[in-house]
Amino acid sequence: MERARALKAAGYDVIDLAGGEPDMPPAAASRNAAINRLQRGELGYGPVTGLLELRNQIARHVSERHGIKVDATNILVGNGAKQVIFEALFAATSPEDEIIIPAPYWVSYPAMAALAGGSAKIASTTAETGFKLTPTLLRETLTPRSRWLVLNSPVNPTGAVYTRSELEALARVISDHPRCLVLSDDIYEDILYDGVNHATMASLGDEFFERSVTCSGFSKGHAMTGLRVGYASGPRWLIEPMTRIQSHMTSGGCVVGQAAAAAALLDAPEFPSECRDTYARRREAGGRILVGCKKLAVTIPDGAFYFWIGISPLLGSMSPGGQLMTCSTAVSGAALSEAMIALMPGSAFGTDGYLRMSFAAADDVVEAGCRRLAQFADGCRRATGATGFTCESASSSSRNDRREGY
Ligand SMILES: Cc1ncc(COP(=O)(O)O)c(C=O)c1O
Repeated sequence: MERARALKAAGYDVIDLAGGEPDMPPAAASRNAAINRLQRGELGYGPVTGLLELRNQIARHVSERHGIKVDATNILVGNGAKQVIFEALFAATSPEDEIIIPAPYWVSYPAMAALAGGSAKIASTTAETGFKLTPTLLRETLTPRSRWLVLNSPVNPTGAVYTRSELEALARVISDHPRCLVLSDDIYEDILYDGVNHATMASLGDEFFERSVTCSGFSKGHAMTGLRVGYASGPRWLIEPMTRIQSHMTSGGCVVGQAAAAAALLDAPEFPSECRDTYARRREAGGRILVGCKKLAVTIPDGAFYFWIGISPLLGSMSPGGQLMTCSTAVSGAALSEAMIALMPGSAFGTDGYLRMSFAAADDVVEAGCRRLAQFADGCRRATGATGFTCESASSSSRNDRREGY
């Protein structure tokens, strides 16, 4: 992302589909609520747990969406989903505890696990299971030291969505490990395609409500990444220590963002599905171009706004510009320097051999990006003694890049 920025600043026509944030502004109702709060001058510290009117709205929303009965005492509002995920892990992880993270994973989970004092235990999923954790893989990964399963659905970066029956099958395995809690990261729950339904562990009955923290927020569905409002819902025995951690870490979240979030739920409930329709159009047009390229194996996602693109024919080959590419970091490096398209390498998500492309950008930008990548892939040739963009040189040149965890 840093290199893409530098190329753009130097005047190159770079198509940047590496990031992970909506490209539209939040709903007018949310923006107006933020402006009103500023104009009223109500800008003192808010409650640590979040503004009561927002927590009431969230409790209503979570109860309706998941069919579980929660009230404001089950809700903690933080500065983005990221903060409440951190707090959940901090609240209930002891040294030596294992935190199970299915790969491909969102880039921040392993770092969060380490900072919380636990150790990340990666469960690598495969294309054969749609990059979803299976009961067999989960059973093989669980040990008496397992403290958390981090389950993200829809998944960043693959867009896979767990069905209710898949969650039930995983839950049966976890039931044999009473110490293991579930952290459901549902931040993309509003962005689902083709009638796919979203389900969450906490809705599977009392046992799983009591041992789950469900994290979500306004960054993706309500296009409010910069306003930093996320929330956790869960049993009080977990929400209360999370709240104590937040009180020492940041105090309550920004009250302006929270005013915008409350208005999003109250006055703009249709906004996420309007955005979803926009993403669906781009998913279809971009997907058609990528599917047409024989050297790419694209996963058309059920949720979120990323294409997860298999690039195994490109590994060990030579780029159109003559660079040897031995890993996804090298492929994304060559695609950026030669085709001027910025994408995330699969290695950032714990799974080499893939690229992640965001389609949260204008229709013509997404289509042009897909065409550039297909053209780049088509122009790659079998390596014949070329030297250049190897995995090692790619990683050393990006060693100082700033990773923002999108
Ligand atoms: C899977 C996942 N979880 C959490 C977050 C963080 O969300 P927030 O911006 O609300 O902190 C992101 C952001 O990209 C994400 O992709």
